[in-house]
Amino acid sequence: MNLGVIGTGYVGLIQGLCLAELGNYVVCVDNDEAKIKSLELGVPPIHEPMLDELLKKNISCGRIKFSTDVRKHIKDLDVIFIAVGTPSDHDGRADLTYVFNAATEISLHMHNDQVVVVKSTVPIGTCKLIEKRIKQKFQGNFEVVSNPEFLREGSAIYDFMNPDRVVIGGTNEFRGVEKIANLYKPLQTTILLTNYETSETIKYASNSYLATQISFINTISRLCEKTGADITKVAEGMKLDKRIGAKAQLRAGIGYGGSCFPKDVKALVNIANDNGVRFGILEEVVKANIIQREFFVDKIKRNLGELDGLTIAVWGLSFKPGTDDMRDAPSIYIIKSLLNEKATIITYDPAVSAEILKIIPHVQIAESPLEACKGADALLVLTEWDEFSKVKWADIAKKMRNKIIFDGRNMLDSKVLEKRGFKYHSLGRTGIQ
Ligand code: UDX
Repeated sequence: MNLGVIGTGYVGLIQGLCLAELGNYVVCVDNDEAKIKSLELGVPPIHEPMLDELLKKNISCGRIKFSTDVRKHIKDLDVIFIAVGTPSDHDGRADLTYVFNAATEISLHMHNDQVVVVKSTVPIGTCKLIEKRIKQKFQGNFEVVSNPEFLREGSAIYDFMNPDRVVIGGTNEFRGVEKIANLYKPLQTTILLTNYETSETIKYASNSYLATQISFINTISRLCEKTGADITKVAEGMKLDKRIGAKAQLRAGIGYGGSCFPKDVKALVNIANDNGVRFGILEEVVKANIIQREFFVDKIKRNLGELDGLTIAVWGLSFKPGTDDMRDAPSIYIIKSLLNEKATIITYDPAVSAEILKIIPHVQIAESPLEACKGADALLVLTEWDEFSKVKWADIAKKMRNKIIFDGRNMLDSKVLEKRGFKYHSLGRTGIQ
């Protein structure tokens, strides 16, 4: 099929590229000229495994192209995906300006039998509004379809190609829905067909439920510190219950971040409120996520005392490994809190370097984990990048002024570190906090 994708952020770019890889002809549109120019040259704007190779391959075989002008292409397309951002407004509600602008733009140039697919995460009821908006300008045959994304950053291409399910919501006739279902057939996965509202709800409910698991286990980890239980074993024991499951998100740490969980949980609280349903559990999920970051900072202050004059090495900045995304990363809150106490911060992240200065101007940047530790009074691990478990601890020990580690991701081996003379702190692990 001939496909168009409006918006080349995480969602749009991966969607467009993977559909090209499946054999479709795709044009990705964005109004950011610099981004489009660099994509045309095969240079992706984000860090994501397999992205470089797939981009170059599909450009060279002519299955994907990029443009800043949506109008020029609409007439040639069977399906147009809207994958623009829906940032949070000041109340935590999704701001739909970009989505509605894209719908209006499409409606001015479309022809009969085209399908408009809403990929952006939108509040329940939005697909109906988009349909109405398009109808105001275009009176021919068209269909709007809801098709939420469930890709995780850092494994987005893998997730696209190996989905747990594809959710497609549409109107009664289901012709557009079938067209979209056909696009995903090669992935041989469960395709759930439903109406708009259900499809839109599945996205928010899934992300909010996953975030709930994280706030739940983080709260249990704080309890473990008081009682002498071990959070790693607690999570292991819970996951053995098949109703909870081996893949449950029960890794305790400094809390969830990123472009989805923080935004989607708050948005669902608001959507529920707007519909007269108080979602107290989710309000607590948000609070627990904040408390977890504060708890980690308190732990550092409790153990190090006065921070003025101390140098703290930070390993890991991105909100999770495998990405350079800093949106709502817990590292931002933690580093800012320590800077407020006048600590000197030296950071290292395999994917984020000078860009951090735009978010936190007062940090120093090191080129390696070892360099970050030079003269440090403590080391913090804020993202569980694989390379941090492979360092030579003897070398790190020689570089640091004081051998103290605060592991915000529970990723390091306390026994190895204690043998090297480190004082090791983590979250909710008995005997080592
Ligand atoms: C998420 C959803 O998983 C995906 O389906 C959705 O469409 C987009 O949002 P993503 O934000 O890329 O994906 O990351 P994810 O791997 O889900 O992690 C989110 C955050 O939770 C990260 O900050 C991560 O560190 C944290 N997390 C995850 C935990 O603290 N503990 C866990 O057990 C799992």
